[in-house]
Amino acid sequence: MTVSIRQVGPCFAGEVDGIDMTKPLTQSDIEAIHAGMDAYAVLVFHNQDIDDAQQLAFTESLGELEHSIGAGLRKPDEYRLPTQFADVSNLDKENKVYGREDRRRLFAIGNRLWHSDSSFKPVPSKYSLLHARAVPSTGGNTEFADMRTAYEALDNQTKAEIEDMICAHSQIFSRKSVGFELFDEEERIRMAPVRQRLVRTHPSTGRKSLFLSSHAGEIEGVPQPEAMLLLKDLTEHATQREFVYSHKWRLHDLVMWDNRRTMHRARPFPEHEPRDMRRTTVVGDGPTAEQIAA
Ligand code: OGA
Ligand code: MN
Repeated sequence: MTVSIRQVGPCFAGEVDGIDMTKPLTQSDIEAIHAGMDAYAVLVFHNQDIDDAQQLAFTESLGELEHSIGAGLRKPDEYRLPTQFADVSNLDKENKVYGREDRRRLFAIGNRLWHSDSSFKPVPSKYSLLHARAVPSTGGNTEFADMRTAYEALDNQTKAEIEDMICAHSQIFSRKSVGFELFDEEERIRMAPVRQRLVRTHPSTGRKSLFLSSHAGEIEGVPQPEAMLLLKDLTEHATQREFVYSHKWRLHDLVMWDNRRTMHRARPFPEHEPRDMRRTTVVGDGPTAEQIAA
């Protein structure tokens, strides 16, 4: 079967036909997916009834896996999924929905803030692949914003002003912005800030984009309120509706996005309903800025 892609978003995002993830990919499938990612940045694959092993195999055919261990608040004995997965569900180890006040839930719903995956790591993620194993009856969309088109729409003065800015990113910053500060000492050390450029260049297309994320909480050399106001202004600009694709999930959808040129966020849904979403991630190409030795 040949791969075909139909654009579904305003300036990006495509729906793919001709891929069956229960079977190994051919070399030409792999090339078509990478080319599709460079062209659309978000790809939607419907009706992929796959298990964990098949999701891992599909992901590994596109690049090296990023392991999610150490990114959330689950302790090692609380993992529901293999450590190659980011567990984006609202479920505990026994597949029970978290209680409303559960610290792990309150941390996890921070992904309802606009972000780019692993921008809090020295090497941020390349692709994320999110598979729907259980979807709520209503709500729970994932929204994506095109950070390349958003960058290109900035005026020249703003482009020049932000060109060489470096931001500090940490999950502590994003959670603090919604009033969550329940971190223990081990987590505070693990979540120490990393440096990221505010404007990054995509390695395969050579195009620039805004590297925003709610994990960004400081800009080097900029007074704090001024830095936060600039980040809020840029985020408001970049997430206006004309740059956003909203994905309404169907069971067994797999959506794949390029974190180097998009932001995304989850939307709310009925809190007592299970939403089982499993993410695999392809490691990034390298740091966007030099890191300061710990
Ligand atoms: C993610 C994420 C959003 C969602 O998987 O990285 O942010 O809608 N998911 O679950
Ligand atoms: Mn995410």
